[in-house]
Amino acid sequence: MGHLRRVFYVSRADASVDSFTMNDIVLRAQRSNRRMDVTGVLAYSGKHFAQVLEGSDEELAALTTKISRDKRHSDVVVLFDEPISKRDYGEWSMGFLYDASLGDEIEQALTEATPQAPARDGTLARKIFLHVSDLARP
Ligand SMILES: Cc1cc2nc3c(=O)[nH]c(=O)nc-3n(C[C@H](O)[C@H](O)[C@H](O)COP(=O)(O)O)c2cc1C
Repeated sequence: MGHLRRVFYVSRADASVDSFTMNDIVLRAQRSNRRMDVTGVLAYSGKHFAQVLEGSDEELAALTTKISRDKRHSDVVVLFDEPISKRDYGEWSMGFLYDASLGDEIEQALTEATPQAPARDGTLARKIFLHVSDLARP
Protein backbone atom coordinates (compact mmCIF):
# COMPACT_ATOMS: atom_id res chain seq x y z
CA MET A 1 0.00 0.00 0.00
CA GLY A 2 1.29 3.43 -0.96
CA HIS A 3 1.26 6.70 0.93
CA LEU A 4 -1.96 8.10 2.31
CA ARG A 5 -3.41 11.07 0.39
CA ARG A 6 -6.48 13.25 0.40
CA VAL A 7 -8.09 14.61 -2.75
CA PHE A 8 -10.79 17.27 -2.57
CA TYR A 9 -12.62 18.32 -5.71
CA VAL A 10 -15.75 20.17 -6.73
CA SER A 11 -17.83 19.76 -9.90
CA ARG A 12 -21.13 20.63 -11.56
CA ALA A 13 -23.78 17.93 -11.43
CA ASP A 14 -25.39 16.98 -14.73
CA ALA A 15 -28.99 18.23 -15.10
CA SER A 16 -30.16 14.60 -15.23
CA VAL A 17 -28.94 13.85 -11.69
CA ASP A 18 -31.81 12.94 -9.34
CA SER A 19 -32.25 10.95 -6.14
CA PHE A 20 -32.06 7.65 -8.05
CA THR A 21 -28.74 8.68 -9.59
CA MET A 22 -27.44 9.68 -6.18
CA ASN A 23 -28.46 6.37 -4.66
CA ASP A 24 -26.68 4.51 -7.42
CA ILE A 25 -23.49 6.56 -7.13
CA VAL A 26 -23.30 6.30 -3.34
CA LEU A 27 -24.18 2.60 -3.00
CA ARG A 28 -21.71 1.55 -5.70
CA ALA A 29 -19.03 3.90 -4.33
CA GLN A 30 -19.42 2.46 -0.84
CA ARG A 31 -18.98 -1.08 -2.14
CA SER A 32 -15.96 -0.40 -4.35
CA ASN A 33 -14.28 2.02 -1.92
CA ARG A 34 -14.41 -0.61 0.80
CA ARG A 35 -12.49 -2.95 -1.51
CA MET A 36 -9.90 -0.24 -2.27
CA ASP A 37 -9.69 1.00 1.33
CA VAL A 38 -10.84 4.43 0.14
CA THR A 39 -12.85 6.59 2.54
CA GLY A 40 -14.48 10.00 2.34
CA VAL A 41 -17.64 11.99 1.91
CA LEU A 42 -19.69 13.14 -1.07
CA ALA A 43 -21.59 16.40 -0.63
CA TYR A 44 -24.34 17.42 -3.05
CA SER A 45 -25.73 20.96 -3.25
CA GLY A 46 -28.53 20.03 -5.65
CA LYS A 47 -26.40 21.43 -8.51
CA HIS A 48 -22.81 20.64 -7.52
CA PHE A 49 -20.68 18.00 -5.92
CA ALA A 50 -17.82 18.34 -3.44
CA GLN A 51 -16.03 15.13 -2.60
CA VAL A 52 -13.30 14.18 -0.16
CA LEU A 53 -11.40 11.02 -1.11
CA GLU A 54 -8.81 9.46 1.21
CA GLY A 55 -6.66 6.46 0.39
CA SER A 56 -3.36 5.29 -1.04
CA ASP A 57 -1.88 7.44 -3.80
CA GLU A 58 -2.17 4.68 -6.45
CA GLU A 59 -5.83 3.98 -5.73
CA LEU A 60 -6.71 7.67 -5.60
CA ALA A 61 -4.95 8.53 -8.85
CA ALA A 62 -6.90 5.82 -10.70
CA LEU A 63 -10.20 6.61 -8.99
CA THR A 64 -9.94 10.36 -9.51
CA THR A 65 -9.31 9.84 -13.23
CA LYS A 66 -12.31 7.53 -13.46
CA ILE A 67 -14.57 9.90 -11.53
CA SER A 68 -13.48 12.94 -13.57
CA ARG A 69 -14.62 11.16 -16.77
CA ASP A 70 -18.05 10.29 -15.34
CA LYS A 71 -20.81 11.93 -17.42
CA ARG A 72 -23.00 12.51 -14.38
CA HIS A 73 -20.98 15.64 -13.64
CA SER A 74 -18.62 18.05 -15.42
CA ASP A 75 -16.05 20.77 -14.72
CA VAL A 76 -14.25 18.66 -12.12
CA VAL A 77 -11.75 20.95 -10.35
CA VAL A 78 -9.35 19.45 -7.82
CA LEU A 79 -9.06 22.02 -5.02
CA PHE A 80 -6.30 20.12 -3.30
CA ASP A 81 -4.46 16.81 -3.45
CA GLU A 82 -2.01 16.31 -0.60
CA PRO A 83 -0.36 13.73 1.63
CA ILE A 84 -2.03 13.16 5.00
CA SER A 85 -0.96 11.28 8.10
CA LYS A 86 -4.47 10.43 9.27
CA ARG A 87 -7.91 10.04 7.69
CA ASP A 88 -10.79 12.39 8.58
CA TYR A 89 -13.39 9.90 7.33
CA GLY A 90 -11.82 6.59 8.37
CA GLU A 91 -15.18 5.11 9.31
CA TRP A 92 -16.98 6.12 6.08
CA SER A 93 -16.42 4.18 2.84
CA MET A 94 -18.40 7.07 1.33
CA GLY A 95 -20.55 9.32 3.47
CA PHE A 96 -23.25 11.32 1.72
CA LEU A 97 -24.76 14.66 2.59
CA TYR A 98 -27.07 17.05 0.84
CA ASP A 99 -26.86 20.75 1.63
CA ALA A 100 -27.93 23.54 -0.70
CA SER A 101 -25.86 26.07 1.27
CA LEU A 102 -22.69 24.71 -0.39
CA GLY A 103 -23.88 25.84 -3.81
CA ASP A 104 -22.65 29.44 -3.82
CA GLU A 105 -19.15 28.63 -2.54
CA ILE A 106 -18.68 25.78 -4.98
CA GLU A 107 -19.95 27.92 -7.85
CA GLN A 108 -17.44 30.63 -6.86
CA ALA A 109 -14.57 28.12 -6.83
CA LEU A 110 -15.62 26.77 -10.23
CA THR A 111 -15.99 30.24 -11.72
CA GLU A 112 -12.53 31.31 -10.54
CA ALA A 113 -10.83 28.15 -11.78
CA THR A 114 -9.00 28.26 -15.10
CA PRO A 115 -7.22 25.40 -16.89
CA GLN A 116 -3.89 27.10 -16.09
CA ALA A 117 -4.69 27.69 -12.43
CA PRO A 118 -7.38 25.18 -11.49
CA ALA A 119 -7.46 26.21 -7.85
CA ARG A 120 -5.82 29.58 -7.39
CA ASP A 121 -7.56 30.45 -4.18
CA GLY A 122 -6.41 28.06 -1.49
CA THR A 123 -8.42 29.99 1.10
CA LEU A 124 -11.71 29.32 -0.65
CA ALA A 125 -10.73 25.65 -1.08
CA ARG A 126 -10.11 25.32 2.68
CA LYS A 127 -13.33 27.18 3.46
CA ILE A 128 -15.39 24.76 1.36
CA PHE A 129 -13.53 21.77 2.83
CA LEU A 130 -14.27 22.99 6.39
CA HIS A 131 -17.89 23.68 5.49
CA VAL A 132 -18.24 20.07 4.28
CA SER A 133 -16.49 18.83 7.47
CA ASP A 134 -18.90 20.85 9.63
CA LEU A 135 -21.91 19.44 7.81
CA ALA A 136 -20.54 15.90 8.02
CA ARG A 137 -19.76 16.03 11.73
CA PRO A 138 -21.86 18.76 13.37
C1 LIG B 1 -19.89 12.70 -8.04
C2 LIG B 1 -19.40 11.29 -8.22
C3 LIG B 1 -18.71 10.67 -7.19
C4 LIG B 1 -18.25 9.35 -7.33
N1 LIG B 1 -17.57 8.76 -6.31
C5 LIG B 1 -17.11 7.49 -6.45
C6 LIG B 1 -16.36 6.87 -5.43
O1 LIG B 1 -16.14 7.41 -4.36
N2 LIG B 1 -15.92 5.60 -5.64
C7 LIG B 1 -16.19 4.93 -6.80
O2 LIG B 1 -15.77 3.78 -6.95
N3 LIG B 1 -16.89 5.50 -7.78
C8 LIG B 1 -17.36 6.76 -7.65
N4 LIG B 1 -18.08 7.33 -8.67
C9 LIG B 1 -18.40 6.53 -9.86
C10 LIG B 1 -17.24 6.44 -10.85
O3 LIG B 1 -17.22 7.61 -11.63
C11 LIG B 1 -17.44 5.20 -11.75
O4 LIG B 1 -18.69 5.25 -12.36
C12 LIG B 1 -17.37 3.95 -10.91
O5 LIG B 1 -16.12 3.90 -10.26
C13 LIG B 1 -17.57 2.67 -11.74
O6 LIG B 1 -16.47 2.43 -12.49
P1 LIG B 1 -16.33 1.06 -13.31
O7 LIG B 1 -17.35 1.17 -14.41
O8 LIG B 1 -14.92 1.05 -13.82
O9 LIG B 1 -16.65 -0.03 -12.34
C14 LIG B 1 -18.53 8.65 -8.54
C15 LIG B 1 -19.22 9.29 -9.57
C16 LIG B 1 -19.67 10.60 -9.41
C17 LIG B 1 -20.44 11.25 -10.52
